[in-house]
Amino acid sequence: MKRVLGIIGSPRRMGNCELMVKEIAALLPEPAALSMVRLAEKDIRPCKACYRCLTGECPHQDDFRAVLEAIVAADGVVVAAPVYLLGAHSSLQRFLDRGLQFFRRIEALAGKPAVGVALAGVKDGEGASLLGVENFIRGMGMEVRGRAVVHAALPGEALLSEDGREAAARLAGALFARGTLPAADPSCTQCGGTFFEFRGGRRVYCLLCGASGTVSFGQGGDIRLATAAPAHSWRGPESRKTHGQWLIGMKEKYRRDRDRLKSVVESYGGGTFI
Ligand SMILES: Cc1cc2nc3c(=O)[nH]c(=O)nc-3n(C[C@H](O)[C@H](O)[C@H](O)COP(=O)(O)O)c2cc1C
Repeated sequence: MKRVLGIIGSPRRMGNCELMVKEIAALLPEPAALSMVRLAEKDIRPCKACYRCLTGECPHQDDFRAVLEAIVAADGVVVAAPVYLLGAHSSLQRFLDRGLQFFRRIEALAGKPAVGVALAGVKDGEGASLLGVENFIRGMGMEVRGRAVVHAALPGEALLSEDGREAAARLAGALFARGTLPAADPSCTQCGGTFFEFRGGRRVYCLLCGASGTVSFGQGGDIRLATAAPAHSWRGPESRKTHGQWLIGMKEKYRRDRDRLKSVVESYGGGTFI
């Protein structure tokens, strides 16, 4: 039996996120063993930027490691987050911020199937939340097999709505589906992402992988996107390994350049803080 981990990014117990996770798990084509984590209730401290985890252990003694091990142990992951102020709930980013630790678990996380859903209380209120959910999944190296925005405000509304039930069924069918996911059209030609910043003229920037490119129109008026590989990437398993090594190299560079850097930093000492 497959093991599914539901990651609930809401502080509201038995809210729409929790119901969506449970419904998706219940609708999986094959029965699965579901375990869940209420991420917002976990003690996940902010990354201290000490870079110790690249070669040793993270100095924080909190719930991060247990959650990461649960993700590693799962065959598939369902992520549900509420929209707060047009973004995904901060519990997702708080966890992701500890992501230098993922570099030591590249093989265990790479390509793990995951689906993500953002729960928005108002129509058009989803903002950048789905980007946050997708970045959470991809940031760990997992594969987004499906994603959805569901509009629901009051706890329970997600599954009273046709859209919510349809999304749950679709994501349940997608989580362990065979074959590669067809790319959205148009999408980033590097990572398949669909979140972009327009940077003037025809220039676009992919918010999921950092690829830059151009947008143009085909003869039939269809939109065409062409993006080139970003200068610095850690999206695929191989580039993740290279990036991990680069980060370790930066630690060494810091040791070499410490005196020069210190002289700049010290000249900005002091200040009033609240
Ligand atoms: C602080 C706060 C901010 C919110 N901001 C938004 C928002 O920007 N857009 C939106 O559509 N819904 C917003 N909502 C509504 C929730 O996203 C919505 O009720 C969702 O279903 C909550 O999921 P839950 O029941 O799992 O907690 C907000 C709710 C709260 C408490």
